[in-house]
Order: sequence, then structure tokens, then C-alpha cells
Amino acid sequence: MLFYLLSLFFFLSPSPQPVHSLNQEAQTLLRVKLALSDPNRALSTWTNRSDSPCNNWFGVECDPTTRRVNSLDLSNSNLAGPFPSQLCNLTSLAHLSLSNNFISAALPAAALRRCAALRRLDLSENLLVGPLPAALPRLLPNLIHLDLSGNNFSGDVPPSFAAFPALRRLSLVDNLLDGPLPAFLSNVTTLTQLNLSYNPFRLGELPPEFGNLTNLRVMWLAGCNLVGSVPDSVSQLGNLVDLDLSNNGLTGRIPEAIAGLGSVVQIELYNNSLDGELPGNLANLTKLRRFDVSSNRLVGRIPEGLCELELESLNLYENGFEGELPGSIARSRNLVELRLFGNRLRGELPSELGRNSELRMIDVSMNRFSGRIPGGLRVWELGEVAVEEQFAFRGGSAGVWGLPRVYLLELMGNEFTGGISMEIGKASNLSVLLISNNKFSGRIPDEIGSLDAMVEFSAADNRLTGSIPPALVKLVQLGRLDLRRNKLSGEIPSGVRRLRNLNELILSDNEFTGGIPAELGSLPALNYLDLSNNQFSGEIPVELQNLKLNQFNFSNNRLFGQVPPLYDVQVYRDSLVGNPGLCGNLLGPCSTRDESKSWSYLWFLRSIFILAALVLVLGSLWFYLKYRSIKKGDCNNDLPSKWTLTSFHKLGFSEYDILDCLDEDNVIGSGASGKVYKAVLSNGETVAVKKLKGGIPGKEDGNGVVEKGRVADDDGFEAEVITLGKIRHKNIVKLLCCCTTRDSKLLIYEYMPNGSLADLLHSKKGGLLDWPTRYKIAVDAAEGLSYLHHDCVPPIVHRDVKSNNILLDEEFGAKVADFGVAKAVDQVGQGAKTMSVIAGSCGYIAPERHIQLRRGNSRACDRKAPDRSEYGEKDLVKWVSITLNQKEIDHIIDPNLGSYHKEEICKVLNIGLLCTNPVPTNRPSMRNVVKLLLEAHVENKPKNAKDTKDSKLSSTCHQEGTLDQESMV
Ligand SMILES: *[C@@H]1O[C@H](CO)[C@@H](O)[C@H](O)[C@H]1NC(C)=O
Ligand SMILES: *[C@@H]1O[C@H](CO)[C@@H](O)[C@H](O)[C@H]1NC(C)=O
Ligand SMILES: *[C@@H]1O[C@H](CO)[C@@H](O)[C@H](O)[C@H]1NC(C)=O
Repeated sequence: MLFYLLSLFFFLSPSPQPVHSLNQEAQTLLRVKLALSDPNRALSTWTNRSDSPCNNWFGVECDPTTRRVNSLDLSNSNLAGPFPSQLCNLTSLAHLSLSNNFISAALPAAALRRCAALRRLDLSENLLVGPLPAALPRLLPNLIHLDLSGNNFSGDVPPSFAAFPALRRLSLVDNLLDGPLPAFLSNVTTLTQLNLSYNPFRLGELPPEFGNLTNLRVMWLAGCNLVGSVPDSVSQLGNLVDLDLSNNGLTGRIPEAIAGLGSVVQIELYNNSLDGELPGNLANLTKLRRFDVSSNRLVGRIPEGLCELELESLNLYENGFEGELPGSIARSRNLVELRLFGNRLRGELPSELGRNSELRMIDVSMNRFSGRIPGGLRVWELGEVAVEEQFAFRGGSAGVWGLPRVYLLELMGNEFTGGISMEIGKASNLSVLLISNNKFSGRIPDEIGSLDAMVEFSAADNRLTGSIPPALVKLVQLGRLDLRRNKLSGEIPSGVRRLRNLNELILSDNEFTGGIPAELGSLPALNYLDLSNNQFSGEIPVELQNLKLNQFNFSNNRLFGQVPPLYDVQVYRDSLVGNPGLCGNLLGPCSTRDESKSWSYLWFLRSIFILAALVLVLGSLWFYLKYRSIKKGDCNNDLPSKWTLTSFHKLGFSEYDILDCLDEDNVIGSGASGKVYKAVLSNGETVAVKKLKGGIPGKEDGNGVVEKGRVADDDGFEAEVITLGKIRHKNIVKLLCCCTTRDSKLLIYEYMPNGSLADLLHSKKGGLLDWPTRYKIAVDAAEGLSYLHHDCVPPIVHRDVKSNNILLDEEFGAKVADFGVAKAVDQVGQGAKTMSVIAGSCGYIAPERHIQLRRGNSRACDRKAPDRSEYGEKDLVKWVSITLNQKEIDHIIDPNLGSYHKEEICKVLNIGLLCTNPVPTNRPSMRNVVKLLLEAHVENKPKNAKDTKDSKLSSTCHQEGTLDQESMV
């Protein structure tokens, strides 16, 4: 009875103060709790109110018989502080996970001295730094699973790691280990998983000894700086299930020995420099499901045997594969992903492909495929009425068009013919349909309106006819609709206001008629509207003034009436020309109301008059030219008579002031896109004038076709210039105005007296740039880019950041220059489409850019370009990393800089390396780059390493090298 009362007393007692009632392990854990910072109160259940930690303490598990703590899982708990060394007083602890917290500082071997019972240690995704403790195998002999990935461990992997007696899983992924790849790990024959990916190991070959690890099931060596060829010894890895050697510099052929991997399910070799043909014996890999050798230099045909496997995913994009796609690929019922873009494949797609109802992604763009897209019961064929019955399959397959799970169907840049099948209505998951640049014909089927998930539909440059299906306005997710250069007609369907997410609407170069619907003015996201070269009529609705358009183009239609005041300004002139009935400040006075009602009659009269006048003018022109050529025999390059000036800033000069200054003596630079002149104007102002090449007809004596192409492409160019003209930022070179004639273009920029960074660095004056100046230039340039990426809507991606495009004012303040324009012009010269500089509008995108976009983070591609002249064929990024691996950091730092700022230099170098990470998603955003650069400034020490994972880099200057500075080296 007394005993009963006593225990009741203890039970009710609010705080059992007698410390001895807390067992030893509870006290240890409370000390651990004290040592950690726990902002989320994850450890709130750890209190001295309950006597044993086995009673529902968070993350704690005990052995049921001994009642001692044997497992502690505190992962994902926002805990911070150094590794709590008291933990190892829990001498029965077998499992410990602190994964994904903010555990910082070094991992002291002493802290683990008493943890000998540990079998499983997971410290992944923390902020641990310093070397890997060499004593680990000795202190933790029972370890089976060691995961230290996602920290900042640096230096060598200690050779003692060869002595783990029982280790089965070792993961060191994503650290800063920069010694040689630890070949001695081949002694740990117990290993079943060896994951070393994404460490900056010294360049080296894949150790043939790894072939001894015959128990391995997983080997991840992606991004490990591997070079040389894949050793034949891989064939000994008969248990290997997953092999990842992607993102390295592997060369040579894929060895036949790879067929020894009898258990392998997944092989990833993408992003290497492998060449030759695929081995013919891949068919032996009967368990293979996922095969990715994209972005190598492989050639030859796709082996039939490979396609006969039950593949789920086949990625062969960006290689030189040719020939036909083996029909057997269609027989794999499990095929989910098929990406073959950027090869030289030809012939038709296998007709049975459409039976793979599992397919989610098909990208065969940029090949030479032809023929119809297989399958589909009925296809709308040329013309409005003719419906062709096409019974490709008796089994009721909807064909490739109607695959129920497919969300990405990319067929661009081939020679496909036939129509878009009505079966497309069955592709209920389709969100991206890109079929531009083919020979598709017939109508766009109404069924497209049932694809609720559709985000992008591009069918530019085909032979589509008929009208836009009215049901299309039901696609509320649609962000981009590009139907330019087809033969579409009819009106824009009513109800377009439902396309709430529409960002780009491009209907140019078709035969559309009817009015511009006022509804367009209520589309909140629309910022790119191109209706040019159609037969739209009526007035421009004033409602369009509600839009925030980055680009619009209504030119060459039959619009008439008053231009809405917002658009009745000089910058928009080119977007409105070619509509004889439009009027306003810009295009001439409007006639009175009554007249505008009887417009068509007037229009008729006027056209007769204009026609007569035209005949007269043309006649006299012909006569004049004839006369002149007889007289001169040759025509020299007269300045065209009529210049159009588009200004973006208040100007104190006219186009004539500029034209007077274009003297060969004033040339200050010339590049692929044209010459740059320094022009000192009559008002004393100095400007830089860029005269774009490729404009003057007759110069290259091109055949008329090319010339026509150029003129037609001008619209895109003008629109881009307008966008650029609107940008105002202290670190972006001001585009003052633009002068054009039909065949020549001048871009007038503010003058930058200190020229380009490249000139300065590579000239004798390079010595003038001391470190503080270079640092400031890096910050300025980063701020300019950050503005383009993050503050412009839609974001603008420069695509060509290099030291030539960073210009310096009189105080060596840096401004980013020349985005987009140079590229746009180059492209025109090659007869390709003008490329838009606006990333949000991927309207015109060069193939290589497009591929980068698909790779993921498009904005992360703005990085310094290689400077071939200086470093031979190697690109600068490789040069820096190779040199860093082989030599001291001093080999890449400009000797002019001395050693005083070395700490700051190597921090900045680190940021540069981050920016050039081979994996786009690992690159910081430009906004972060600015932040990191500012933190790198030695007087501005970073505050505390805990608050973001990004800042963990600025706190270690472990590998020394950069790219922002690279151009200054
Ligand atoms: C760990 O155990 C040792 C010896 O048993 C003891 O002296 C020490 O105070 C303990 N530390 C903690 C934090 O419990
Ligand atoms: C690996 O094993 C071999 C042969 O047993 C031995 O000679 C070598 O020293 C070991 N390597 C390391 C780093 O322990
Ligand atoms: C490991 O592999 C290498 C090369 O493949 C071989 O020479 C060596 O004898 C092997 N070592 C052991 C211990 O099996």
C-alpha cells in the first residue's frame, strides 16, 4: 500500500527533481540539446520531466530489452551548431542521423571516440568543413553505412578509408574533395554503394581497380573530373545496377566490356566526350531500363539490339547518330521517355510508337525525320472538308498524337508531313506541343481545345490552313501560342479573354482577317503580341492600352482609324507601318468621323490614285536608274536618303549629326556584327555608333532571295531594339537611339571612354587595373546581369557575357553591353531567324540555346565565354580548373595583382567557379552572385554561415580560382 502511494506520488509529482531519477542517457541527451541551437523547438519533448528518453522523446529509439538508446534520428530539424560530441556517451548508439541540418565546423575524430557501436552514420546535407577524419575506420569499425554527402569537406580522402572492415555504403557526393580520386577504395570489397559524384577531384582516369568491387550495386562517379577511357575492368561489376559516369571528360569509345554488366538497370554516360559507335552487344544487357549517352560525340546507327531491350528511357540527344530509328523501340511497352533531339536521324518514326501508352516525353527535334506522325485514326487533311481516314492500327491506338500520358511532344525542325490528328484530343496530359519548322498541313483540329494542361503550342513555319479552332480559348493554362508563317485564315476566335495566362501570341505572316478583338486588352499576362503581315482590319482597340506589352507588331495589315494615344509615339512606328488607314500624330491626321464611315469607298478611290502615282514613280525611278547606270557604269554606296530615328532618351542631336561622323578615321572597333565609330557631335557630346553589317544591298551582290529574307526579318530586330532601349540601369550601357533605313542600321550608344574590359586586359594598359578596380568591375557587371535576370519582366538573358562586352566609363565603372543585338544580326546573316533577347519569349531561339533551356535553368547560362586566342582551344573554365588541379593558385592569378589581396581574390575566384558549375541548377542566381561578391569583400566579412546554404561557400576559400576574374587574369 505504501509502495502504491509512493509511486502515485512520483507519478503526480510535477517535477521529479531528484536527478538520479533521470537516467544517465537522458542526461546525456539533455546536454546534447543544450549544445545545439534549436530554433524550431524540435527537441521540445526532451525534458527532465520524463525519466527515460525511451518514452516518446523526439527521434529517440531504444533497445526493447536493455532500454538503452540505440537510434537517434534528428534529420530535417533545423538544428545548428558543431557536431555534439556528448552524443557518443550513448555507447549503444547504432544509428545516428543528423541529415539536413546546419551542423557546422570540423568533424573532430575525438568526438566519435566512444561511438564504436555505430553501424550507420548519416551527416549528409550539413555545413561540415575541413578534412575527412582519417581515424574514422579505426574508431567506427562496425560502420556499414557512412553518408557525408552535401557538406564542405575538403582535401584528400584519407588512405585509411581503405581499411573500413565492413562498410557497405559510402557516400561523399557533393563536397569539396580535391585530391586524387581514391582508387584505394577498391580495397573495401564489402562496398555495395560507392557514391563520390560532384567533387572537384584532381583530373584522373577511372581507376581500373574499381573492377574489384564485385559487390557493387551502385557506382556514382558523376562530375568527378574523370578523363581517359572507361576501363575494361568494369565488366567485372556483375552485380552493378546503377552506373553513373555523367558530367566528366571521358573520351574514347564505350567499351564492348560494358556488356559484362549483366545486372545493370541504369547507365548514365551523358556529358562526356565519348566517341565512335555504340557497342553492338548492348543487347546482352537484358535488365537495362534507362540508358543516357546524350551530349557526347557518338556516331553511327542506333543499334537494333539496344532498342529491343525493355527500355523505359532512351536519351541519345546531341550526338551524331544517323540512319533510322529502329522500329523495335516501339515494342518496349515500358517506354516513358524518348529524347533524340540534335542528331542526324532520318526516315519515319516507327509506326508502332503510338502504342506505347506509357510514353510521357518524346523529343525528336532537330533531326531529319520525315513522313507522317504515326498512328491516329483520322487526320484532317489539306482543305476544310476532306477528312482522311487513316486506319493505321486496328487495335484502336490513338497514335503518337493521342498518347494519354505524354506531356511533352517535340517534333521541331524535321520534315514531317501530314496533319495534326484529331486524336490529339486524347493526349490529356499534353502541356508542351512544339511542331514548328516542319511541313505539317491541314487544319488545327478542334480537339486541341480539350487539352487542359497545354502551356505551350508552337506550330510556326508549317503549312497549316483553316482557322484557329474556337475551342482553343478553353486552354486557360496556355502561355505561348506561336502560329507564325503558316497559311491560317479566319478571325481570332471570340472568348480569348479566357486565356488568362497567355504571355505570347504570335500570329504573324498568315492570312488572318477580321478585327483585333478588344478582349485582348484584358489578358493580364500578355506581353508579346505579333499580328503583323496578315489582313486584320478595323481599328486598334483602345483597350489594348491596358496591356504591358514588351513587343507588339501590327504592321502590314489593313487596320485603320486613330492609333490609341499610348501607342501613337515614335518608338512604335515600325509596329504600325503598312496599315495605310491608320492615323494619328505619328502617321498623319485622321479624316473626320463621317469620312471614316465611308472609308472603304474613299479607300477605293485612294487606291486607284495611289496606284497611278506608284506607276508614275516607279517608271521615273526605273528611268533614272537606267540613266544613271549608263552614266556611271557602277553604283557606289550612297547613303540612303531617308533615315528613321527611334530615340529612347532625350537627345540633343539628330540623325544627320551622326551620319556626318561616320568616317573611317573614327572607327574604334569592329566585330562580327559591324564597325563601331566614335562620333563627336556638333553639340560637343560623344557617342558610340555601331553600324550593323549585312544591311547594304548590292554589297555582297547576294541573290535576291537572301536580301528579301533579311528585310523580312527586320521586324524582329526592331522590336528587340525597342526592348533594349527601355532598359535603364547604371550598369547597363545606354542605347540612346537607333537609326534605320530599309537596308542599314545604326545603333547609338553612350560613349565609354575606357573601352572594353577585354581590350584593357589584353593591352599594355592591363597593368592599370589593380585588384580593387577589378573587384568593382566584377560587382558592377554582376549587378547589371542581375537586373536583366531578376528585375526585367520578362527576364532578359544576355547569352554572350564576355570581357569584350563589359565596357568601362571614365571612372572604370563597368556596364554590360551588346546583348542580343550582335547575335540577332549574325543570325540574319546566316539566313536564320532573328533571335529574341527576351528569355520569357523563346520565340526565336538558336538550337544550342534551346537545348540549354531544356537542360533546366536557363538563366544560369550567362557565364563568361572562353577566350580562344589566349588559351588555345581550351575553354577558360577548363583551363582554370585544370591549372588549379595541377599547380598553385598563383599560376592563374595575374602577377600584376601582387599578394596583398589574395584572400579576396580567391573568394571571388570561388564564386566564379560556382557560376560555371557544369550542372546548371547548381549555379547561383545572379542576385545571389551579387550578394556573394559583396560578402567576399574582405572588410565586409560574411555574417554568419548558418543563414543560407549559399553563404557556406564564401566562408571557405578552399579552392582558389574564378571566372569573373578569369578574364582579368
Ligand atoms: C560521458 O561519460 C563520461 C564517462 O562516463 C563522463 O565523465 C562524462 O561526464 C559524460 N559526459 C556527458 C556529456 O554525459
Ligand atoms: C589495398 O590492398 C592492397 C593489397 O591487399 C595493399 O597492398 C594496399 O596497401 C591496400 N591499400 C591501402 C591504401 O590500404
Ligand atoms: C584489383 O584490380 C587490379 C586491376 O584491375 C588488379 O591488378 C589487382 O590485382 C586487383 N587487386 C585485388 C586485391 O584483387
